[in-house]
Amino acid sequence: MRIAVFVSGSGTNLQNIIDAVEDGRLQNLEIAMVMADRDCYAVERSLDYDLPTYLLEDRKTFSEDADHNLEGENIDLIVLAGFLSILSKEFVEKWQGKIINIHPALLPKYGGKGMYGKYVHQAVLEAGDEVSGATVHFVTAGVDEGEIILQKEFKIEKGDTVEDLQRKVAEVEKMIMVEAIRKLEVRS
Ligand code: GRF
Repeated sequence: MRIAVFVSGSGTNLQNIIDAVEDGRLQNLEIAMVMADRDCYAVERSLDYDLPTYLLEDRKTFSEDADHNLEGENIDLIVLAGFLSILSKEFVEKWQGKIINIHPALLPKYGGKGMYGKYVHQAVLEAGDEVSGATVHFVTAGVDEGEIILQKEFKIEKGDTVEDLQRKVAEVEKMIMVEAIRKLEVRS
């Protein structure tokens, strides 16, 4: 399976995939390329592993430029790993069923435009929810609305802060990102 990973941030989810390939949890999987819509630490992680890395900073043409780089690369799956830009409708339709995203909450709650990073955790705490978690889902034209592939939750403890939720979500993401890719590998 050949995958392309799209990133925008610290790259912990990219690192999760790299580590799983390195230690054999993900076999027969190649990270064919990494594409970033902004300069970020995830780019450094990618270069550290000599992965083909593209920095496409023009947000208006990101989808077009990314599609150009994917041309002829036999990519089986595109993984949005902490990726913050919204892909174009044309791109999503062209790659329908081959794009997955990881979201730091239990969709369908706390999804959609503007729901990313600490804003999600703030909303969960303000709502007084007892649990939170993360979700891996297929990407469709509706932001965070695609079919859910895998979710995992954890209990929110009294006094938990946004930072506590961020840390606990990162732990959950570590597990479900790799598990979801493995699930799709078996399916493909
Ligand atoms: C993660 O919680 C992810 O769900 C969200 O962005 C956060 C940072 O991801 N989309 P990463 O460290 O850049 O992978």
